[in-house]
Amino acid sequence: MIVLKTDNELALLREANRIIAVILTELKEKIRPGITTLELDQWAEQRILDLKAKPGFKGYPGPAGAKPFPATLCTSINHEVVHGIPSAQRRLQEGDIIGVDVGTVYKDYYGDGAYTYAVGTISASARDLLETCEQALHRGIEQAVPGHCLGDIAKAIDGHVRGRGYEVVRDLSGHGIGRQLHEDPQVLNYYDGQRGAKLKSRMTLAIEPMINAGGYAVRTMDDHWTVVTSDGSLSAHFEHTVALTDNGAEILTRL
Ligand code: MF3
Ligand code: CO
Ligand code: CO
Repeated sequence: MIVLKTDNELALLREANRIIAVILTELKEKIRPGITTLELDQWAEQRILDLKAKPGFKGYPGPAGAKPFPATLCTSINHEVVHGIPSAQRRLQEGDIIGVDVGTVYKDYYGDGAYTYAVGTISASARDLLETCEQALHRGIEQAVPGHCLGDIAKAIDGHVRGRGYEVVRDLSGHGIGRQLHEDPQVLNYYDGQRGAKLKSRMTLAIEPMINAGGYAVRTMDDHWTVVTSDGSLSAHFEHTVALTDNGAEILTRL
């Protein structure tokens, strides 16, 4: 069931997701060679609390066999796709790329957004991968209009990514968001030939393409969380939470 949000709910979602934008913007200054992913996580947790929200991912139940997610951020470096666990052992190095996904809860409503950062100077090929993923997200958002279908979002993302010679990860998707982090509908990033559900005003969606420089296949590490590319190729992830209105998509996590 897809929940359409009231004005009051949209106001709370705006605040939860504005905080995401603050975190992702301020992280640009923090992400430097030498910092650990645990330091980033500790900073983000305190900043979210200062902004009167709570971390949205901490304690989130995992897949069978996994412990609940232990941190505020998901930090995924290079060939890690998503859901990397922050660690004092992981120090960023010049030339890395790092996807940071952050969640908040504000008065029972969730915020969710992600950005992939360059650590210092990165290769031209890594830069191109990041640009393509961010562009693909915006191509998808352009299609998030009442009257269109979920398949239009998928087609726009997939078309852009393949046109640039990359692959969209298929095992993970975007989602509705509101009182729960993951609500209906699933928002696929690849086109499976289905038109999918009709989009309506007041739907709130997290749109989040994950793209690989190599093949689309991924696997999960022994920690039960970290998803990596099967072929070891670089991966990028960008995510915005949007609210659909009669005037198009309002990006609630706009940086
Ligand atoms: N933020 C992810 C998403 O974009 C989900 C993270 S799973 C969690 O949907 F356990 F870390 F919360
Ligand atoms: Co996310
Ligand atoms: Co999400």
